[in-house]
Formats: sequence, structure tokens, C-alpha cells
Amino acid sequence: MPFLAAFGPGLDRPLPAVGGAGGRRFPSLPMPPLDWNATVERETAHLYARIKAVVPAVEWPFFAPYVKAINELKAARGAVILAHNYQTPEIYNCVADFVGDSLQLAREAAKTRAAVIVQCGVHFMAETAKILNPDKTVLIPDRRAGCSLAQAISADDVRLLRERFPGVPVVTYVNTSAEVKAESDICCTSSNALQVVESLGSDKVIFLPDEYLARYVASQTDVKIIAWKGHCEVHERFTADELRGYRESDPAIQIIAHPECPPDVLAEADFTGSTAHMIDWVRARKPRRVVMVTECSMADNVQAELPEVQFVRPCNLCPHMKRITLPKILDSLVHMQEEVVVDPAIAAKARRAVERMIHLKS
Ligand code: 13P
Ligand code: SF4
Repeated sequence: MPFLAAFGPGLDRPLPAVGGAGGRRFPSLPMPPLDWNATVERETAHLYARIKAVVPAVEWPFFAPYVKAINELKAARGAVILAHNYQTPEIYNCVADFVGDSLQLAREAAKTRAAVIVQCGVHFMAETAKILNPDKTVLIPDRRAGCSLAQAISADDVRLLRERFPGVPVVTYVNTSAEVKAESDICCTSSNALQVVESLGSDKVIFLPDEYLARYVASQTDVKIIAWKGHCEVHERFTADELRGYRESDPAIQIIAHPECPPDVLAEADFTGSTAHMIDWVRARKPRRVVMVTECSMADNVQAELPEVQFVRPCNLCPHMKRITLPKILDSLVHMQEEVVVDPAIAAKARRAVERMIHLKS
């Protein structure tokens, strides 16, 4: 395996910059009524049908008034809602216009004609949408929705690595700040990391900041990988022992894992892929029983679509993704907050790295 080394000071970073210009161009609207009544029940019945396998009927009277209000306000604001695969079922299935992994969401953000983008995901995803749409309003319902990987590295760290390895191209996972992307040659996501690394025609690359994704890519290529010691706080908690336990209890069980997991965990898996690739794998194979070794809302979302598949849920939640809720999405549309702001000079540099990835032919 051509894995050279992993660097990293393991510094704590401040929360990402959000806000500032929020709400200037759009006045707040009145808060819509949020009562549960026969009209709300009738008008949202088709949406509840999508999630009835995973959301108990007693919970729907709480969600439905928000779902109806969000969908109406979204149309009034000319907004589009992009939701990551880790969002909870009522967001993913009932208010999102587009769902997907980081790459699919970045592609949708690049394509959308909507004037307002509400990003139901974490901050780096909203920032990526803003980098691709400098003239649009990008909102995130909770500015504290961060990511341990994005916190793990700064633009200064990238500059130091470039000094240490002159001429070696820098591939940066999208789970990073705009400042870090601006110092990079090209971005990647977990679904195209190998392709991006091999596209550069270099025998050596600096791959930041996820050490485990870097190790996974290194196991698939002859390109030598210099990595950083950033980790996802959700995926690093899975253990190989835990996975062996599932296999011992049911030898026919299928185990599929996200490449942010440690190498010994991936060694126990039948398939490794991005969140979208994991979903596609389950859709195509419809296993009798499967463990999705990733954030656990994703299993709920796939379960809603495929009730016949039995999901074993090692329930590791991403605390950042879970900050996004229906009441906060509604607030976001009522008050047009929190608006994501990226310094235009940094955005222009970061855009080169993101667009280079998006335009890579698959
Ligand atoms: P995906 O691009 O596979 O959706 O991964 C994003 C992420 O943050 C996983 O933890
Ligand atoms: Fe970041 Fe991990 Fe949460 Fe994904 S699951 S957003 S990598 S902390």
C-alpha cells in the first residue's frame, strides 16, 4: 500500500464564519400557523405515506404542520432545499427537493436556477453551495452544524505541507473550509476520491484531511499518498470487533461501510462506498439483512424506501447533521437565516478546486 505518512497537529478550530448579511434583501415573513387539523392531515397524507415504515403515526401530527408550512414557504421564497443522505426521514422525504451524497449535492448546487438554496446538511456543504453560487442566497438552518474533519485542518496547515512537499499536488476532501479548498489543487468526495487522485498524473499526492479515506484510496492505487490525521468523529467510533459480532450472529448478513471508517473496520466490510454508493448497492441487491456502517439516519431513509430489507443499525449519530430540524428549516425560510457568507477572493480560489472536481469526466 503506497501510504507514505500522515501529518497533523490535531488543533481545535473555531466555528466556521456564517451570517453577516443575513436577511438584508428579504424581509421576514409572518410565522405560518402550525396547528394539526383535518386539512393538514389530508394535504400531507401522501408525504406521510413515504415514511410510514419508519415514523410512527403518533409523531406525524408534530411533523405535518411544519412540512406543510415549509413546502409553502419554499415556493413563496423561490427556494430549493438540498438535503444530505444523513438527514432525518421527515426532512429527507417530505421537504427536500434534492437528496444525495456530497458530490450529488454539489452538482445540484451548481445546476440549480433557484435564487435561494437551503442546505440541510453541515456547514461545509452550504459553503460549497455558496462557492458555486456567489450571487445566490445560501442558508443553513443552524450555523453550528460543523464537521470534525473540517475542524481538523487550516489553510496555514496546507501552506506548510506545500512547503514541505514542493510540487506535490493537493487533493482536498470537500469536508473542509473554503479557506482550505482555496489552497488546494482539486477537491474530492468519498465517491470520486480515487478517480480524482489518479486524474492528476502525479506519482505522489497530498490528500487532506481524512486519514482513513486517504488510507482507503492508498489501498486502491499505485499513487503514493501523503495524508493528514483528521478523522470523522462518527465513523471512527465503529470497531472491527463490533462488525465481527454481527457476522457471527448471522453469517449471511451483508456489511457495507463508508470509507471514513478505520482500515480494520473496512477490512470486515463486503462493500465500501460513499453514502450514495451504499444506497445504490442496497437498492440493487436488496439483501435480506444489512448493516450500514455509517450515520444511522441513512438506514431509516433507505428503510422507508425498501421495507422488505432488514437493517441492523449501529446507531452512531452525527451531532452536526442532527442540528438540522423542521422547526429550524421553517425559521430559516421565515427569517432568511443563517446566510452563508464566503470572502469573494477566497471563494474564487476555492471555486477552481471544486469546479475542477465537478467537471472531471467519470
Ligand atoms: P458522502 O459524500 O459519502 O455523503 O459523505 C459525507 C460525509 O460527511 C460522510 O460522513
Ligand atoms: Fe463530518 Fe463525520 Fe458528521 Fe460527516 S458524519 S458531517 S464527516 S462529523
